[in-house]
Amino acid sequence: MGWPRGRGDRLILWLICAVFAPALLAFAAPQAVDSEGHQWWQHAVFYEIYPRSYADTNEDGIGDLNGITSKLDYLEQLGVDAIWISPCFPSPQVDFGYDVSDYENIDPMYGTLADFDRLAAEAKKRNIRIILDFVINHTSDRHPWFIDSRSSREAAHRNWYIYRDGKGPGQPPNNWQSTFGHSAWQFDPKTDQYYYHYFYMQQPDLNWRNAQVKSAMFDVSRWWYKRGVAGFRLDAVDTLFEDPALRDNPILPGTNKYGDPNMEDKYNKKLPEVHQVLRGLRQVADEYQAVLIGEAYTENIDELRQYYGTHNNELQMPMDFMFMKVDKLSAPEFRKQIAAVDTAGGWPVYVLGNHDNPRSYVRYGDGQHDEAIAKLMAALYLTLRGTPIMYYGEEIGMTNNDPQRKEDVKDPIGITGWPQEKGRDGERTPMQWSSTINAGFSRARPWLPVPDSYKTHNVATELAQNDSVLQFYRKILALRHQNPALLDGEYIPLKQDDPSILSYLRKYKDQTVLVVLNMSSEPHKSSFDLRPQGLPSAKAKTLVTANGAEAGPDLSHLSLEAFAIYIAEILPGEVQ
Ligand code: GLC
Ligand code: CA
Repeated sequence: MGWPRGRGDRLILWLICAVFAPALLAFAAPQAVDSEGHQWWQHAVFYEIYPRSYADTNEDGIGDLNGITSKLDYLEQLGVDAIWISPCFPSPQVDFGYDVSDYENIDPMYGTLADFDRLAAEAKKRNIRIILDFVINHTSDRHPWFIDSRSSREAAHRNWYIYRDGKGPGQPPNNWQSTFGHSAWQFDPKTDQYYYHYFYMQQPDLNWRNAQVKSAMFDVSRWWYKRGVAGFRLDAVDTLFEDPALRDNPILPGTNKYGDPNMEDKYNKKLPEVHQVLRGLRQVADEYQAVLIGEAYTENIDELRQYYGTHNNELQMPMDFMFMKVDKLSAPEFRKQIAAVDTAGGWPVYVLGNHDNPRSYVRYGDGQHDEAIAKLMAALYLTLRGTPIMYYGEEIGMTNNDPQRKEDVKDPIGITGWPQEKGRDGERTPMQWSSTINAGFSRARPWLPVPDSYKTHNVATELAQNDSVLQFYRKILALRHQNPALLDGEYIPLKQDDPSILSYLRKYKDQTVLVVLNMSSEPHKSSFDLRPQGLPSAKAKTLVTANGAEAGPDLSHLSLEAFAIYIAEILPGEVQ
């Protein structure tokens, strides 16, 4: 039997290939793993970019994709392996991109699909992968699906959203509240029904119980994978499903920052059905060897564990926000949280800040040792077992710049909630590139004001200083990329009763790294006996120190100034 020669035979062969090749490929190309079974994203450092605020090339005061492309060399030198770009799709920008009106295009204010392709190609040359932000709970009210849905009760897309009758004239279907303030139901006079929105009223929730919604959204993810995207950050996954019976949520004592009664989101959040959607999205992601990161705010480790999926078949990377919510420099609190995540059964994902929360620089800073503390926090989350996701500007010690007057607020929740809720503008200000006008972000007036600290805290100035926050990040990131213990090693906590000093080993085969972090403003002396860990010699080679850490010839005399950082390689020694 030879290869088929005739025309008909060729056709049959072609058909066989067309039908079976994708399946064969899926088998033939398993996820590339190293000897530890680790995939690329487990060794990568991710970096969140808020595109409005990164770099402006067309001088309208708003960042754009070409701006990101122009900074890829910077990102490469910093030591970033993947960038997550928060939504850059066409959008009326009510929630600055989290209200998407077309999932398969780029907002003209950010550029074009051709600009995106160029960004992707340039990033690829530098081994930087691109992660997009997938807003799956809701669309914009200007999305054609929603426009059609509200045109009549019989519209083709009516059931793509959640429309219900009110309880009576002027009364919404139930007591659910939007997390952005007031009722989650918006009356639509044309069809005399209410539609549901967990976020702004311009962000109507999609009906994930409708199979058409599911397949349309799965197709969107395919469309971008085919364009070279390496994965998605999934927005607000815990809000995908609502109780079909629309039971009222329990009311809690007191009022929230919008003046509404406090409420437990019992029937419109964290419904178990979400896991089935995540499994579906993961199946599609697996076809393209892509990674799914989740915005998953969880109360406890058990909830976090569920996002990995019972068979590790949901999110590879659910972010651990409980770590970010440890809002004080407390060694015991961080120790507890790290241990919990480290043993949760999946790969830990550590985050210090993002576009929804005040910057880590102000949350952990004490006003006196802010630089030292910024480095300490970097040393912490960049040396743990897991994948860190940085937030742009964190590496230069950017501070929050909250609006001082209500009329300056851009983020709508800051207008609704003023003055208790000032909105999220403060953590979204332009990246500080230099000490020139507008911090080198744009020659036009930036959409949000640059804080005064840009004169000292900017990329150009910090690159020229040896002891800047930026240089510290570069050092730690470089170390992390080439040190097997930091990449693959297990996490072994030490001195678990110490109230001020957080210390641990990262151990991989015969390589061990010791990390000692003084989380207090007091100097401390410390010593380490690592015999119980099977390391008899306790001779150490310093890898990185900062903020005044000194070690004697062995680990018996370690002196640590306020917020000192000591990272060393433990040298294998004679067994005594
Ligand atoms: C997520 C985003 C936030 C946005 C919300 C609604 O929490 O991070 O910025 O406002 O979802 O899409
Ligand atoms: Ca621009």
